Amino acid sequence: MRASASWGVYMSADLSVSFTGLRFRNPFLLSSAPPTESESNIMRAFEAGWGGVVTKTIGLHPVTNVAGPKTKFLRTDPATSRLSMQRMAGSALHSSWNWELISDKTIDWWLPRIENIKKAYPEHILVASIMAGSGSDKELRHWQELAVGCQDAGADAFELNLSCPHMDRQDMGSNVGKDAGLISVVTKVVKEVAKVPVWCKLTPSTTDIVAEARASLNAGADAIVSSNTFPSLPPIDPATLEFEVNVDGYVSSGGLGGPAILPLSLAKMAQMTPAFPDKSFSGIGGIADFSQALSFFMLGCGTVQVCTAAMLDHAIGPNVIKSLTSGLAAFLEANAERGWTSVESFRGARRDRVVTHSRIRRPDGKEYFGGQDAPEGYAAPATAERLV
Ligand SMILES: Cc1cc2nc3c(=O)[nH]c(=O)nc-3n(C[C@H](O)[C@H](O)[C@H](O)COP(=O)(O)O)c2cc1C
Repeated sequence: MRASASWGVYMSADLSVSFTGLRFRNPFLLSSAPPTESESNIMRAFEAGWGGVVTKTIGLHPVTNVAGPKTKFLRTDPATSRLSMQRMAGSALHSSWNWELISDKTIDWWLPRIENIKKAYPEHILVASIMAGSGSDKELRHWQELAVGCQDAGADAFELNLSCPHMDRQDMGSNVGKDAGLISVVTKVVKEVAKVPVWCKLTPSTTDIVAEARASLNAGADAIVSSNTFPSLPPIDPATLEFEVNVDGYVSSGGLGGPAILPLSLAKMAQMTPAFPDKSFSGIGGIADFSQALSFFMLGCGTVQVCTAAMLDHAIGPNVIKSLTSGLAAFLEANAERGWTSVESFRGARRDRVVTHSRIRRPDGKEYFGGQDAPEGYAAPATAERLV
């Protein structure tokens, strides 16, 4: 992390971005999760310097979390390669694992608080994350009720939670995000009433995320957000033979976040941004400092969001946001001669570098056709060597 003394050196850089028509003082947001679950946390986050926040997901149905820890952190021991949630001296953070549901606070609890926050911080961007079902007209009206309530309270945008991995209901969360038809219906229903931008947060747990991004964008989404956590289980403790997180010995699939998912999230993003180069993307997954955020910007994201790293840093990430903003300022200064004066000027600079495997150069200069026969009339006759 950069020392705070050097932060002052870069204070003059313009870190602001325009994303889905909204002006952010910097492109760094707290994602929808415990860091944004209360009014006091969100206000502290704005004070600490975050450019925006996405609220913990707000819904209308009752929420009861499990009778045990909702989130734990996995660490690796470099000496033994053991991966565990238990304390190990000298270990490094690997990931977060959670099975927390959406906010357990009601919409009536949230609305006056959104209003207060926006009154106190009118220039900061507050995105309301919302979620309802999709299996009936009544459920679809819930989306509209949530949207109208939040925008009347002052929310600057919506993030549709189409990605929560712990819903049993087939018409909620990542089960919606796995179904292009439902994504389309839900997005259109919210767009019907929305006066502010609508972002769709997709689940990474599908075969071809481009299909779900297309459904969202065709239905009018103003941005795609990815990734939510990846479906996963905690390891089994060899001493007790129990899952390291369990309630009465039982566990269900939870979500993996933090450093471990950075490469996975980048791969999802790299599928989408070249497919829709003119659209807006917000990147999430394992971001703790600027080097990781940079990968998402280089792939074409206009903003990025952070959860796990912030949870481990005084609950809202005051040091993380300092490190992100000073890292961006230093990067702009170091690359000024390239004409990179803002995130927009280098956004997507490496988007075209992700290609099919057969397009990667072979050491002997020979062409390779991805396991296919050579196209007719194009390649040299097969040699014994090629047939091996
Ligand atoms: C404890 C916990 C609760 C979360 N709750 C929500 C939620 O309510 N809505 C949502 O869209 N994402 C939720 N997420 C997912 C995060 O917003 C984020 O997408 C994910 O953790 C990946 O980012 P990270 O690698 O920075 O942690 C939650 C994550 C964690 C760890």
